[in-house]
Amino acid sequence: MNNHSNIFALTSVMRLLVIILSVSYTSLLLASDSLSSTSNLDKEELMNAESLVSLTRGSTEFSCIDCHGKTGNSIHNIKYEKQTPRLAGQDMSYLYSQLINFKQGARFANEMEGILQYYSNQELQLIAHYFASQTLSKDPKFDVTLDTLTHSKAEDESWSKQGESLYLNGDSRRDILACQTCHGKFGEGRIIGLDKAPKLTGQHARYVRMTLENYAKGQRTTDKLFNNPMQTISRKLTPLDRRNLAAYIQGLSSPN
Ligand code: HEC
Ligand code: HEC
Repeated sequence: MNNHSNIFALTSVMRLLVIILSVSYTSLLLASDSLSSTSNLDKEELMNAESLVSLTRGSTEFSCIDCHGKTGNSIHNIKYEKQTPRLAGQDMSYLYSQLINFKQGARFANEMEGILQYYSNQELQLIAHYFASQTLSKDPKFDVTLDTLTHSKAEDESWSKQGESLYLNGDSRRDILACQTCHGKFGEGRIIGLDKAPKLTGQHARYVRMTLENYAKGQRTTDKLFNNPMQTISRKLTPLDRRNLAAYIQGLSSPN
């Protein structure tokens, strides 16, 4: 067999693999289920977790809760408030995977730079448990003073309304899949086969906007394990779409 036919055989196999993978991905989507983030820590684990998140390590200036809040609701810190994600009630394995991503340099952010190297993977697992077991507090729908976009409450409501349609229905003309397909109607997150799409309920608009922009620019690539759904979708979104979706997502709350 010459080199050409070898290469041909190889590309055929690869094509077949891509087809099999995308078919199984679609059927996994259909078999998706709502995501649960419950986790129970015993008394000793809780005490360990509380000290891990509230003390600084190495030469870091801030502890986790200085920025993310004691209960992971990140509402108290003026400087970082609205772009610091809320972690309360987020899926445990999602939180853990992101902590490992930061630690290994697969995800980068100035504020999180050089912090996680000081923690063992076991400690990070405990921290993920801790934040996952917190309750997401109700956030006021919108706080003009802390957003980088200057606008009124009325504008925010209209943005949110426009974001709602994209979130729930997507846009078939632009080949944009509805966000709820993976993230759930209320942003509760969903299990997709063996993988999970994170919870978005009540996440800060500013963080969501920044994140969608980071995916679009290829600055955040942690979705590659899932075949890049977020990088692909975010590239199709305009800045106005991102603004509208972020406003809508911040206003989402669980039905109960
Ligand atoms: C100086 C403020 C600051 C400190 C200290 C900090 N964080 Fe963060 N954290 C952020 C910001 C801002 C982001 C968003 C980064 C981005 O995506 O650009 C973030 C992102 C995260 C995420 C990803 C959340 C998601 O929805 O994907 C997790 C998990 C997290 N931090 C946990 C921690 C833990 C655990 C600690 C302590 C060991 C910590 N953070 C310390 C500001 C901080
Ligand atoms: C095909 C499934 C799928 C669809 C559709 C989808 N997402 Fe995602 N989304 C994911 C997965 C999986 C992740 C986690 C990726 C990672 O680890 O970076 C994610 C992550 C995110 C994050 C980051 C969460 C965080 O805490 O940092 C945001 C924000 C987000 N999606 C918003 C959206 C919006 C808005 C839409 C609709 C325009 C959408 N997603 C559509 C699967 C999807």
